[in-house]
Amino acid sequence: MNAASKQPIGIFDSGIGGTSIWKKIHQFLPNENTIYLADSKNAPYGQKSENKILELSIKNTEFLLNKNCKLIVVACNTATTNAIEYLREHYAVPFIGIEPAIKPAAINTKTKNIGILATKGTLNSRLFTTTSNTINQEVFIREQVGEGLVELIEDGQLVSTKMTHLLTNHLHKLLKYNIDYLVLGCTHYPYLIPQIQKIIGTDITIIDSGLAVAKQTKKILEENNLLNTQNLKTKHFFFTNKTTKVLEFVLGHNQNCIIEKLNF
Ligand code: DGL
Repeated sequence: MNAASKQPIGIFDSGIGGTSIWKKIHQFLPNENTIYLADSKNAPYGQKSENKILELSIKNTEFLLNKNCKLIVVACNTATTNAIEYLREHYAVPFIGIEPAIKPAAINTKTKNIGILATKGTLNSRLFTTTSNTINQEVFIREQVGEGLVELIEDGQLVSTKMTHLLTNHLHKLLKYNIDYLVLGCTHYPYLIPQIQKIIGTDITIIDSGLAVAKQTKKILEENNLLNTQNLKTKHFFFTNKTTKVLEFVLGHNQNCIIEKLNF
């Protein structure tokens, strides 16, 4: 096994949303050590300019590289769609990104209408537009900005009257179109699935990209001879530049997870 294999996987997001991806990576790659960075102080990224998102993504990447990460998962659709091309060009480690899974939804839709809930930054990005243009022209992609959702989650109001109200509003705009697939294009949103399901019912299939990211991470680690095959107790560090409360809530009691607040 290559010595670098023992180094951790780095993961970053604008906040706690990327922990939904971390969970999939941890399930799928149980031998890997990880370092997660939640840039919650700067959340939401979704309303920021492309330049600002790039600047923050560079800062996050350098933080993780200083911690010796062997590969970086950009566990944020907004940062991926706005910054991953730059990051891949400028840094030597492999990067895994996350993009809304509109392709599988477009292949499987019967009603020819798929809904996507994502941030403004993701929906307006060049990368998302390029992917949308590859979709079969008979399929309509119905876009909805999930305005306010990330802010509420970061504020610890995942289950609240405000959330129910906001979600109902956003989703009803998509339901008008007879969608049969709903793509979640933000890593914070998988935490909303039970509430989304209550509003849209069970006939609409909800898709997110978490497992696909975990599989891709494994593939790229293997290709680069970086997979950790040692079956030892793993360590998982979570750094945040805001309160640790929301991270503690979404991670639950996992003794292998060490959560720390940083001035970052
Ligand atoms: N989790 C981020 C994403 O996947 C949220 C973006 C934001 O902070 O607005 O897009």
